[in-house]
Amino acid sequence: MNLEGKKILVTGGGGVGVGGGVCQALSNFGATIVLNEIDQEKAEAAAEKYPRAIPVAADISNPEQVSDMFDYISSEIGLLDGLVNNAGVGLNTVAHKASEEEFDRLYDIDIKGVWQMSKAFVNQLLVAGHIGHIVNISSVNAHSTMSRYAIYASAKSAVEGLTRGMAVELGPHNIRVNAIGPGLVHAEQNYELIKSWSDDPHKWEEDFVKDQQVLLHPIEPVDCGNAVAFLLSDLSRAITGQVLYVDKGTTSLLFNRFCTEQKLD
Ligand SMILES: NC(=O)c1ccc[n+]([C@@H]2O[C@H](COP(=O)([O-])OP(=O)(O)OC[C@H]3O[C@@H](n4cnc5c(N)ncnc54)[C@H](O)[C@@H]3O)[C@@H](O)[C@H]2O)c1
Repeated sequence: MNLEGKKILVTGGGGVGVGGGVCQALSNFGATIVLNEIDQEKAEAAAEKYPRAIPVAADISNPEQVSDMFDYISSEIGLLDGLVNNAGVGLNTVAHKASEEEFDRLYDIDIKGVWQMSKAFVNQLLVAGHIGHIVNISSVNAHSTMSRYAIYASAKSAVEGLTRGMAVELGPHNIRVNAIGPGLVHAEQNYELIKSWSDDPHKWEEDFVKDQQVLLHPIEPVDCGNAVAFLLSDLSRAITGQVLYVDKGTTSLLFNRFCTEQKLD
C-alpha cells in the first residue's frame, strides 16, 4: 500500500488508542496526516510524533469550529484525500439511568460530529472536483453489546447506517465510505475503565482475550490503523459501504470459548 502524497485528516488523532494506531499506520504508508484534536496544545503535541503531520484544533461536535477548521485547511493545507472519523467518547451507564446531558454529549460527538465532519469534507471535494474517501470508526458494540453500553452501541449503529447511506449517495462521485469496528483494543487507558467492573483489569483483559477472541493476542491500535489504510488506499477501490471488524474474531463467537472448549486443547 502506498499513501504517499495523500493528505488525510484524522479526528481525535491525539488519542492513545485507535487514533494513535491510525496515525501510526497512515504515516508508515507515507501519508501526510492532518491531525485534529479538541485543543491546539494536544494537536501540536500529538503531531510531533509523526513525520509530515500538521496539527489542526477543533471540537468536532461544534459546527462553527468544524467550519473554521475546514476554511483553515482549504487556505493553508490544500485539498484532502481522506477523512478518518476517529474522535469518539464512551459512556459507562445503563440507558435507563443516563442523563439527557450524557446522552446529548455522546450523540453530539459520536454521530453528529461524524456527520458534520463528513459533510464538510464531501462538500470540499465536490466543489473542487476531487476524489477522496472516508473511514468511520465504529465498534463491535454496533454488532452486539454489553450492559452499560446501550447508548454508545446505538450511536455506533447509527455510524454504520450513515456509512452505508453516504456510500450509496456518494458512489456516483467515486467517493467511498467505509467503517472499521474495533474490538477491545489494547491501550493503557482502558485499564481505568475496566477498573469499573473488575478489581484486576490486567487479568480481566487476559481472560477476555482467551475467552472472547478467536485469535489469542490483544488487538494493537496499529492493527486498526492498517485496516483504515487499506480502506483509504486504491487496493480497496471496489469496497464501499462496508464495516470491517478488526476484532480478532470476537463477533464470530456465539458463546465464549470457555463455555464450549473447556475440554479441547
Ligand atoms: N479503545 C477501544 O478499545 C475502542 C474499541 C472500539 C471502538 N473504539 C473507537 O475508537 C475511537 C477512538 O477511541 P479511543 O478509545 O482510541 O479513545 P481515545 O480517548 O484514545 O481517543 C479519542 C480522542 O478523541 C479526542 N476527542 C474527544 N472528543 C473530541 C471532540 N469533540 N473533537 C475532537 N477530538 C475529540 C480526545 O481528545 C482523544 O484524544 C472512538 O470512536 C471509539 O469509540 C475504541
